[in-house]
Amino acid sequence: MKLHQRVAVITGAGSGIGRACAKEFAREGARVVVADIHVEGARQTVRDIEALGGTGLAVRTDVSDPESVRQLAAATLDTFFFIHVLVNNAAIQVNKTVEDTTFEEWNAQLAVNLGGVFLCSKYFIPHLRKTRGAIVNMSSVNGYFVEPVCAGYCATKAGIIGLTKAMAIDHGKDGIRVNCICPGYIDAGLAEGYFQAQPDPAAARTAAGKLHALWRIGRPEEVARMAVFLASDDASFVTGASMAVDGGFGSGLPPAV
Ligand SMILES: NC(=O)c1ccc[n+]([C@@H]2O[C@H](COP(=O)([O-])OP(=O)(O)OC[C@H]3O[C@@H](n4cnc5c(N)ncnc54)[C@H](O)[C@@H]3O)[C@@H](O)[C@H]2O)c1
Repeated sequence: MKLHQRVAVITGAGSGIGRACAKEFAREGARVVVADIHVEGARQTVRDIEALGGTGLAVRTDVSDPESVRQLAAATLDTFFFIHVLVNNAAIQVNKTVEDTTFEEWNAQLAVNLGGVFLCSKYFIPHLRKTRGAIVNMSSVNGYFVEPVCAGYCATKAGIIGLTKAMAIDHGKDGIRVNCICPGYIDAGLAEGYFQAQPDPAAARTAAGKLHALWRIGRPEEVARMAVFLASDDASFVTGASMAVDGGFGSGLPPAV
């Protein structure tokens, strides 16, 4: 097992890619803190982990709220005493142009997607230093290959790539590795929301698949395997990197809608 007895905190793990990461980490022997603003989703993920024979802890967390993140750190250390891996995965997506996005939507997206990475990293780095741990941030192909009508989201995902490199440089001397994953379209909540925001959701989903060289969208588990790799000693000389898990995104056909 690649993560035997490690303690991993995964934000936004109450559904989608985060839940898949939580289950994959548990399969690899990690004890997983499942942090999500929707606590019922987090509890379901813990039940899934327990069904696999693993150990999990659900903590209601708003990653955009400093006090909530401080409580997440306290709950993690109270229960498991250490932290070895932080996966900053929680995000929201506003499917609008800049012109149509309200100031409140812009601020909320920045606060969760980029602010959440900042806050969780800020409060966990002192503890990750003790274990020479790892941070895995969830960016997106939209961090460098933008698409229409999700301007603020693309901006936050580009910001995560920059913040990943900055934290890697600042904390490499402490033995903390910081990397990010850039998934293509994945069959999970945010992609589904994007499809539903298009005039013909089914056509948008089919067209999205064809943007990838593999001519399909990905599965959450396919992203989770990369998260396991980056969190594990297999990636001991990997830091500051943006790893594409995108089925060759950008190499397929242009969208039909
Ligand atoms: N699905 C895709 O196609 C895709 C592609 C590229 C990148 N990603 C990235 O993967 C990650 C997960 O996306 P997903 O599609 O699984 O989405 P999802 O909506 O299924 O999961 C996101 C989770 O984050 C939680 N969350 C939202 N706001 C929160 C907050 N303030 N505090 C704590 N938790 C909060 C939600 O409750 C939800 O459980 C995101 O970072 C997203 O940008 C997704």
